Amino acid sequence: MDVKAELPLAFNVPQGWPSPNYNYTNNQLSKAGFELGRKMFYDARLSKDNTISCGSCHQQFSGFAQIDHPVSHGINDLLGNRNSPPLFNLNWHTSFMWDGGINHIENQPIAPIQNPVEMDETMANVVTKLQGDATYRSMFKAAFGDETVNSQRIAKAFAQFMGMIVSSNAKYDKYKRGEAGSAFTQQEMNGYDVYKQNCATCHTEPLFTDFSFRNNGLPPTGVNDSGRAHITLASADLYKFKTPSLRNLKYTWPYMHDGRFNSIDQVLNHYTTGIMQSPTLDNKLSGGITLTDKQKEDLKAFLNTLNDEEFVKNTMFQEVK
Ligand code: HEC
Ligand code: HEC
Repeated sequence: MDVKAELPLAFNVPQGWPSPNYNYTNNQLSKAGFELGRKMFYDARLSKDNTISCGSCHQQFSGFAQIDHPVSHGINDLLGNRNSPPLFNLNWHTSFMWDGGINHIENQPIAPIQNPVEMDETMANVVTKLQGDATYRSMFKAAFGDETVNSQRIAKAFAQFMGMIVSSNAKYDKYKRGEAGSAFTQQEMNGYDVYKQNCATCHTEPLFTDFSFRNNGLPPTGVNDSGRAHITLASADLYKFKTPSLRNLKYTWPYMHDGRFNSIDQVLNHYTTGIMQSPTLDNKLSGGITLTDKQKEDLKAFLNTLNDEEFVKNTMFQEVK
């Protein structure tokens, strides 16, 4: 099957979803631009010693997170201090990174390329490497009209590939669209109610995050990561992190900004018995969350309806060798 033939050229907003934050008005979406972004995403030559690609830390089978890695592993096996977040539905994001330190999808790729513990390369060297490669030159021409390689075009092609990574085909989505065979079981319905009462304020439908920065009461560890305050320098933002989506949790473990939890059970135990009081703890969580064992099981059944297997297996997002 010709993978290219199935590539769409339009960005489709799933039924019932809000308008995306980034919609390609200043970045004409094309098959060629998407393919260029995909090629770069999987290309280790974007790192200093040609060993690490974006795909090393953002693996499709893991919802484009890095499975089994509490914190990311980059060049020379160096460790970062944060968990690689999954990558999907990025065009709805209002900011990027756990602390929201990057405010535009097109500015995002420069950060890992230049980060000394991630890819440790300069944009100038990336441009030189790609310019020296005839395949890239022809791909830049196909995407942008001529063979010029520059950081702006690199950023735009990345945004075309990453933005197209949409996950909207979980059982939950099919149920919402009324598709055949997607009716919720009684347990999933019960879990949906538990979710609405306890989690929906921050993990809001249909993206399962409102992209707000909150302190959900995680006790500090050895790394004193101040979260949002790292960017705003405001004490009111201490230990607040961008609320992650609850979609695709089956694939994206471990959880939280530092990957401290390996299972949903550990996450739920945190919310019921582990919340640490502090001045910036979110009001919603100041009394903790009370869940019976049955409510926990029901909630887990509902969370399972948010796993989108079609997305993690979608050949469109795979490396083309
Ligand atoms: C060494 C591992 C590593 C590599 C390589 C890497 N990333 Fe990441 N990525 C991370 C980590 C860790 C974060 C979170 C960083 C933070 O919050 O400070 C992140 C965050 C992101 C985000 C923001 C997601 C969100 O929810 O806010 C995007 C988008 C992203 N990376 C894309 C890329 C692209 C594109 C590349 C290649 C140019 C890349 N990454 C290379 C580890 C990596
Ligand atoms: C007050 C807002 C708020 C409420 C309510 C809330 N969360 Fe969270 N949740 C967060 C924030 C913020 C994070 C990220 C914290 C971090 O990493 O430091 C998070 C992280 C998570 C994660 C980790 C996801 C990942 O990709 O790492 C899961 C799972 C989760 N929450 C599930 C739930 C469930 C289930 C409920 C309801 C029982 C709930 N949350 C209630 C704000 C909230």
